[in-house]
Amino acid sequence: MNDKEVLAAYKARLEAYLDALPMAGAPDRLREAMRYSLLNGGKRLRGCLLLAACELAGGNTEEALPFAAALEMIHAYSLIHDDLPAMDNDTLRRGKPTNHVVFGEAMAILAGDGLLTHAFEVMAAANHPRALRALGEIAKAAGVGGMLAGQTLDVTMEGTEPTMDLVNTIHRGKTAALLTAPITAGLILGGASDTEIEAGREYGYHLGMAFQIVDDLLDLEGDPALMGKTLGKDQAEGKLTWPACVGVDQARKDAEAHIRAAAGALAPFGKKAEFLQTLAFSTLHRVQ
Ligand code: IPE
Ligand code: IPE
Ligand code: MG
Ligand code: MG
Ligand code: MG
Repeated sequence: MNDKEVLAAYKARLEAYLDALPMAGAPDRLREAMRYSLLNGGKRLRGCLLLAACELAGGNTEEALPFAAALEMIHAYSLIHDDLPAMDNDTLRRGKPTNHVVFGEAMAILAGDGLLTHAFEVMAAANHPRALRALGEIAKAAGVGGMLAGQTLDVTMEGTEPTMDLVNTIHRGKTAALLTAPITAGLILGGASDTEIEAGREYGYHLGMAFQIVDDLLDLEGDPALMGKTLGKDQAEGKLTWPACVGVDQARKDAEAHIRAAAGALAPFGKKAEFLQTLAFSTLHRVQ
């Protein structure tokens, strides 16, 4: 299989796993709202990164699937809440009306809560020998010092002068944290050494920074039909973006530098790391 086929295979296994989640005990309306956002497309980058990192460490990807699914549940929750009127107030996501537009704000909040909590239920039930350490990485990344820290600054500092320091902190929190956790958790599940896990952490950080810089660039110059969300809003809302701070040209250069650093961080893995290195470079040219 070539890289594209490997990625497609990871994605297909993950989609099937997500679709089969029983969400036991959920009232129909809650399950419907959760499934609406969880199964509504998306690149599945976080879940696929986790499977690839597990494989890089020589682990069993089948046993890692619940953790990959958990990452996608946490990501879907973060998007539902990010789109709420009180946050970014967006009505389009992955080419479809946002969760609160379809189900109302109360159900959107609950669907987000449901996906976040269910992620941990699924990981705990996986009964993997290294589950607790992997789960800890994911909780920390999604939590108060990770994604939530970034989102807090993203909304509270809206409209203020962007400084490099602040935008760096926002991007590291709101996006890089949830792109680092799949790598560190995947490596942990696969049985990697502490040194390897730290190399993976560096890769995830740089990949995540580049990913959000490119997201900011796509908000300015992306194709709305491909992106499936309303573009051009960051400037209007006074969001602290990378291009707002350094300009479009420098932002592109900074994203490239982060990706080179990401690829370099995996050098200790040798040729085995090529899949993740190539994947990182491909995010520079993404159109969705
Ligand atoms: C969107 O993430 C939110 C950001 C962190 C920029 P993705 O671009 O990975 O969204 P999906 O899952 O593919 O829709
Ligand atoms: C989203 O950042 C980060 C999280 C959801 C945690 P953005 O607000 O820039 O993402 P989009 O542009 O709405 O996808
Ligand atoms: Mg946001
Ligand atoms: Mg947003
Ligand atoms: Mg954005």
